[in-house]
Order: sequence, then C-alpha cells, then structure tokens
Amino acid sequence: MDKLVINGQVPLHGEVTISGSKNAAVAILPAALLANDVVVLENVPNIADTKNLVQIMRDMNVEVEYLDEHTLRIDSRNLTNNCADSEGIRKMRASYYFLGVLLGRFGHARVAFPGGCDFGVRPIDLHIKGFEALGAVVSTKAIIEMKADQLIGTNIFLDFASVGATINIMLAAVMARGTTVIENAAKEPHVVDTASFLNSMGADVKGAGTDTIRIRGVRRLHGSEYAIIPDQIEAGTYMVASAVTGGDVMIRNVIPRHMDSISAKLREIGIRVIDGDECIRVIGKNCRMKPIKVKTAPYPGFPTDMQPQMMVLLSRIQGTSMVNESVWDNRFRYVEQLKKLGASIDVEGHIAIIEGVEKLCGTEVQASDLRAGAAMVLAGLSSEGTTTITNIDYIERGYEDMVTKLKNLGAQIERISDRDPKLRVLGRSAG
Ligand code: EPU
Repeated sequence: MDKLVINGQVPLHGEVTISGSKNAAVAILPAALLANDVVVLENVPNIADTKNLVQIMRDMNVEVEYLDEHTLRIDSRNLTNNCADSEGIRKMRASYYFLGVLLGRFGHARVAFPGGCDFGVRPIDLHIKGFEALGAVVSTKAIIEMKADQLIGTNIFLDFASVGATINIMLAAVMARGTTVIENAAKEPHVVDTASFLNSMGADVKGAGTDTIRIRGVRRLHGSEYAIIPDQIEAGTYMVASAVTGGDVMIRNVIPRHMDSISAKLREIGIRVIDGDECIRVIGKNCRMKPIKVKTAPYPGFPTDMQPQMMVLLSRIQGTSMVNESVWDNRFRYVEQLKKLGASIDVEGHIAIIEGVEKLCGTEVQASDLRAGAAMVLAGLSSEGTTTITNIDYIERGYEDMVTKLKNLGAQIERISDRDPKLRVLGRSAG
C-alpha cells in the first residue's frame, strides 16, 4: 500500500502551477464523443480520473491518443456502441456523463451505475428527471438504460442547482429537437467550461454561468480544439497550504475570479491574498489570524470541495470557528482523522465547531476521500513531527503530481510504498 510521509512545519515558498480542472475534464472528455469527429483537448490534468476515462473510452472503441502529457486527441468516428459498462465506470461518479452523451448521440444509452468518493448518499434522481423530461424512457435495474425515439427540448427546473444534472442535461439536449431551458442551473466554472466546449463543437448553449441555461438543439456537432480551464479547487488547496504553513506562495495558471469566495475567506482570517493577472500570491507568514464562520454553497459560494482543507486551517487558529456544510449530507467523516492529529472539532449534523489548537502532532491518518485526503496533506504540512497518510489513491484521482509540486515549494514529503526501506527509516526517526 502506498503512503505519503510528511515532516511538517516547513513554511512553503516559491511558485506552483495549477493543472487543468478535474471537474471540467471529467465532463469534457465524455462530451467529446457527441461529435462524430476528432477533438483535441489541451490542458487535460494528468490524474487517475482522466486516465480512467481514457480507458473507458478505449473500451468503447474510441481512439484516444496522448499528443503530450496534457493533450488528448479523441477520435470517436468508430463509436457505434451505446453501452458503457466497463469496470472503470464503477470507479468514478462522473462516469454518469456517459448517460447524457450516449443518449444525446444515439438516443439510447446503457451505462453501469457510477461509483465515486463515499461521503453519504449521492443520488442521480435530478439527472434522470431531466432525461425523462426530454422524452427518454429510463429503467434502472442492473444497469441504467435510457431510450428515446427523439429527444425534444423542454423547460426543466432543477430542485437543487446540481452540477452533474446541469451538465448531463446540457449534454443530452445539445442535439435534441427544439430548445431546452434549464432553470436553477448550477453556475460552477466547470459548467461554463463544458458549455463553452460544446459551443466550440457547434452547439448553441447560452446563459451558462447564470441560473438559466438555454440550449437550442442543433443537428450535429463537429470536431474542435479546446483548452480546459485551470482547476479552482487545486488552486484553493495550494492557497490554504501557503496559509497554514505560514508560507509565501505564488500560484500560477489560475482564474482569480473563480477564487473570489476562497480569497475572501482567507482575507477575513487575516491572510494576505494578492490577485495578479493569471496568478494569486498567498502570504501566510507574520499574519495574525482570527477565527471565522464558513458556509459551503453552490458557486459563487464557498465550494464544498474546499471545506476539508479550510477546516485544517481553522483548526490552527486560536478561538472558535464554525463550518456549515450545506451541499453534501455527510462530508465531515474525515474529522475523526484530524482529531487524531490533535484538532478539536465537534460535529453536529451539518455544523462543525472548531476550537483552534496551538499545534497538531503528526501520526498515521487515512484519506477517506479526495478532498479529505488533500486536507490530511495540509494537516501533515502544518503538524509537528511526521504524518503518514494512507489510502492515497483518492488524492491521486484528482491532484496532479502533488508530491512534486509541494517538494518544489520546500515541503518535506515523500511518496513511498510499504516495501520501500525509506518508509522504515522515516518511521523510525519519527519515534
Ligand atoms: N443531488 C441530488 N440529486 C441529484 C444530484 C445531486 O439530490 O440527482 C444532491 C447531492 O446529493 C448533493 C447536492 O445535490 O447533496 C450537490 O450535488 P451535485 O449534483 O452538485 O454534485 P455532483 O455533480 O455529483 C460535483 C463535483 C463534486 C462537488 C459537487 C458540488 C464533479 C465530477 N463532482 O458533484 O466534486 O462536490 O459537484 O459542487 O463535478 C470533488 O471534486 O471532490 C467532488 C466531490
């Protein structure tokens, strides 16, 4: 079993470059199959989730070639199969995008149930209601099967501004007959990026980034070349890394506007955050930090995917902070792991009350999901002594080269396998 071993309390300094957005990429790679043509995608993050999607698409007879580490050429002209049920589908939640794509392209989709990080119930009822509204007949037995003679545009009101349902309905609707209007649509940067990509293939999607998205169906889409936006959450994670280690880090390849809710909370705490053109500098050293309240919310609110990382920072600030998780039902499971490092956090339902502690002390903790894993890394960076993190597969699903990026900032972090003698040496020195 591979692990990360961190010797903490080293302030981070230097520059880090953010990779392409995971949550945009996991929608845009499948979306490329809507064109019966060749698509070239740039700035694709090189992470386990995108590699998994590449394998799923190859299993579907799609030709996928890496032109370089971050550029994919996807040729779906030989795609004739409306079925996606390979093992990879069950490994990730975002494989649900094959539903919208195959339904949109063939009017018939058969897709295995998606998997993904486990933090409570993760239904897809809003996606299914949307497909049904467009005219699909849906059956969910051993596999999800959907059929429509003709998808027909309609008005769809989402009970919750779900990212996945918004994108999936767009994917199915781009080639439907007539106009589809999604109301109470999600506004996340990756929703907008997916719409921009669809438009680059000839779709007619307007209003992405607002509550109301209008999709006028077109007969067919064509190939395109498209660069994916930078990852908002990866950038936010390095912002907190700088803050929590008392460092000074320049974060490059970001869209500062996407970071506003995170920057605002860091400034409220007392961290210096300086916006540049496509960069943000975060200075944590010599800052007097004060406790705050954070409530997660759909974009432009504070992202739930930054909640665990923020919790680490709050757990190091003297006084009482509060976190209200309003997006997911059960996203505090990782708190038990932070407590092992000495954090003082009480969770009741959707609310966590944090009493800041003077220091965290390294020990062995687990990554219980992707962002919880990132939080463990941040906690390790700010802890005294050695922290060992297991279950790191989760982290590698969504963070490109985290170990190298952190080492370049001066962190003492190693990725080692259980059989590696280095682990035993580090373990011994930790006492
Ligand atoms: N929901 C429903 N029914 C649905 C869909 C969602 O009740 O049909 C509920 C969910 O249970 C949840 C809320 O709506 O309480 C939000 O779910 P949403 O559909 O917006 O989430 P998602 O599309 O499944 C994406 C990201 C998540 C991120 C959420 C919220 C991707 C691939 N995943 O998930 O990212 O937490 O939006 O912003 O885009 C991550 O990157 O670590 C991650 C989990």
